[in-house]
Amino acid sequence: MGAPRTILYTGKGGVGKTSVAAATARRCAAGGLRTLVLSTDPAHSLSDVLGERLGAEPTPAGDRLWGQEVSAQDAMEDHWSAVQAWLAGALVARGVDRISAEELTVPPGLDELFSLLTLKRHYAGDAYDVIVVDCAPTGETLRLLSFPDVARWWLDRVFPQQGRLLDAARPLARAVLDVSLPGRDVFDDVATLVRNLITMNEILRDHEHVSVRLVMTPDRLVIDEARRTFTYLNLYGYLTDAVVVNRVFGEEVGAFFGPWRARQQEQLVAVTDAFAPVPVLEAPYFDEEVVGPVMLDRLGDALFAGGPPPEALRHRSVSQRLELDRESATLRLELPFARRDDLSLKRVGAELVVRVDGHKRTVLLPPALEGFEPRGATFDDGALTVTFGRDPVVVADGA
Ligand SMILES: Nc1ncnc2c1ncn2[C@@H]1O[C@H](COP(=O)(O)OP(=O)(O)OP(=O)(O)O)[C@@H](O)[C@H]1O
Ligand SMILES: [Mg+2]
Repeated sequence: MGAPRTILYTGKGGVGKTSVAAATARRCAAGGLRTLVLSTDPAHSLSDVLGERLGAEPTPAGDRLWGQEVSAQDAMEDHWSAVQAWLAGALVARGVDRISAEELTVPPGLDELFSLLTLKRHYAGDAYDVIVVDCAPTGETLRLLSFPDVARWWLDRVFPQQGRLLDAARPLARAVLDVSLPGRDVFDDVATLVRNLITMNEILRDHEHVSVRLVMTPDRLVIDEARRTFTYLNLYGYLTDAVVVNRVFGEEVGAFFGPWRARQQEQLVAVTDAFAPVPVLEAPYFDEEVVGPVMLDRLGDALFAGGPPPEALRHRSVSQRLELDRESATLRLELPFARRDDLSLKRVGAELVVRVDGHKRTVLLPPALEGFEPRGATFDDGALTVTFGRDPVVVADGA
């Protein structure tokens, strides 16, 4: 048994994350698995979509199905109240008005992060076989989880000292500077947050059980954002096991939408190029909103019928890995269908274009590779390793 199978759906606003998450959860439950669908988006819509009134704790929403809309407010109070109180006090003391001060005590994305920490409890428990997470639009939250190495460093080295120093400085600060330094409770909150981040990061890297699925519509800007997310998910070692292209026009749209459909079909090819070998799931643009069990099951059918069960891991490896040091970098790309010969690479702006026997893979390079140029490539075991160096040289070709 072990940890529950956990699927996180993320993607740009309005692309269909909540619909796809709810459809997946219903299908998992129908397949006999105890399933929880969890919304960490502060603007919840899961209740409406499922047609069930969900609470801040898991609420029954069908056979073997539960739904939960985490209260960002509660999560915040549990985790951050000491920091908030101290920071708000400090800001007000410096002339910031009370309302702005309250706003400023919560860095963007933090409320959703605290909501996501709910996952920790379910992951450690054995109440569910599957947990489906409907994340907030940006995917920024997952990014926040990506600095545990830095966090660990702070925790080990800075925090103990900081605490001691502050205790020593406290009476002096109060007497001379007229400020109150953060108390132990503030440090406890921050230290707990850091520890939670480390745990969450470990959970998200459990490739046996946990994967992210990127939801998008077949529109260029939406796909571009999904590619950026994909790049950093890969960099941080989070497994993306599928991408979902939602709201694809079918043939029945007729002449008026014909040109739209043609453009969408082009975008679908671009999606395959950008995310391969991660499989692409597709759902059509339905003639009505995806609300309620009937429509959710239509969506679930469109996505999963005829394939492996919805919870199955569709891809098992992180398909891009980057190692970076000061002067050089290596990027490892899975290209399962490629042969050693007939391989070319070229950097075009922020993209690396890899061509192999007529296939094209475009990889959006992370900003960290700014100023690096591809120098050479080797091909082994179905994976391409590209070496980068700092100075601009003529683009290397082949293996
Ligand atoms: N395949 C589809 N066909 C038709 N309508 C769809 C489809 N998928 C989703 N919708 C509709 O599109 C709208 C947005 O979907 P949804 O709320 O699932 O997106 P979201 O990514 O969760 O949005 P948000 O970022 O606001 O949370 C809803 O009205 C939903 O019913
Ligand atoms: Mg949503």
